[in-house]
Amino acid sequence: MLGLLAEPVPGGAEVDVPWADLARMTQTLRCASRVYVRIARADVRDGQELRRLLASLPWSLWPLPQSVAVRWAVRKATSARAGWLAHETDRILALRPVGEHPPLTLLMRVTGPEVEVSVDAAGRPMHQRGWRTEQGEAPLRETVAAAMLRAVGYDGTQRLWDPMCGSGTLAIEAATWRQPAQWRAWDVDAWQVPQPASVAKLLPRGLIVAGDVDPEVLAVARRNAERAGVADAIDFRPAELAGQLRDGFVPQCVVVNPPWGRRLGGRNEARRLLQRLAAVLVRDALGARVAILTPEPQAMRDLPVAHATSRQVDCGGTSLFLVAGTIAAGPARRSR
Ligand SMILES: C[S@@+](CC[C@H](N)C(=O)[O-])C[C@H]1O[C@@H](n2cnc3c(N)ncnc32)[C@H](O)[C@@H]1O
Repeated sequence: MLGLLAEPVPGGAEVDVPWADLARMTQTLRCASRVYVRIARADVRDGQELRRLLASLPWSLWPLPQSVAVRWAVRKATSARAGWLAHETDRILALRPVGEHPPLTLLMRVTGPEVEVSVDAAGRPMHQRGWRTEQGEAPLRETVAAAMLRAVGYDGTQRLWDPMCGSGTLAIEAATWRQPAQWRAWDVDAWQVPQPASVAKLLPRGLIVAGDVDPEVLAVARRNAERAGVADAIDFRPAELAGQLRDGFVPQCVVVNPPWGRRLGGRNEARRLLQRLAAVLVRDALGARVAILTPEPQAMRDLPVAHATSRQVDCGGTSLFLVAGTIAAGPARRSR
């Protein structure tokens, strides 16, 4: 999306970018939970070397006064060394004043004698878009919602349907797709880099339909959309999935996060719901791109998804499968 060449690494990707692109990344990357910038690295054997490392950080790049939070990742070091580093770092950084700004989060990676310091460029987890103050059962992380939208090739202009919208995460993510991010904790003006041009566009009405059988959770979704400033762009429909598109709305993209397991009272119930979903998708959305989140990829055999691809995604500690393809009549076919 940003045209950057990133190298996949366990748990993420690495990329070399100038400061200006970093500002763009924190504003436009929708699937990333955090963006860390490596800023210093040194062998640390005693307090003096630690003080020198911390003093070398480019503190002036961030607005002050600023409190500092530290996360640690320790490999090839004893727990005594890890404890000493954490204690000494807290002691040195405690001298920094606590201001009204969100804390600057440092990630300190210890590997044997080496300590590498990175800074969290967005200042807070990027899935926290800011509008979710209420949630339904099993809300989706906004970053996973973004991955599902990307999997159906959503670009902010297609007709989109979420038939089981819960608290509205997928619909709200879709409606804000072309707006600049609101998930940075502070303004990158402080880095004196040019602000990216605004990509905000008014979303035409009538492109996004979000339904749910539960009117209470739908009211939560509507309030969430109001907080995100996109309530007018989403057509919320309180109905069972089979009755949501009676007006002839023809979706080009469908995204579904069905309930699973205990919430449904067991596997048979889950299977019955999927079969029902399958029949409705063929009737109301044939030919549309679809993305479904499931704990069991084998459950997809009940769904009419052609050319399906499946990838594992981390949903806040739970691993699920994101299956994407095209809605087709007849049995599911997999491409890989
Ligand atoms: C896992 S939740 C969706 C969570 C949502 N993605 C979010 O971020 O909040 C599944 C939703 O499906 C809805 N649901 C279950 N059966 C349904 C049906 N037959 N028709 C429409 N909605 C249904 C439930 O009410 C629930 O809100």
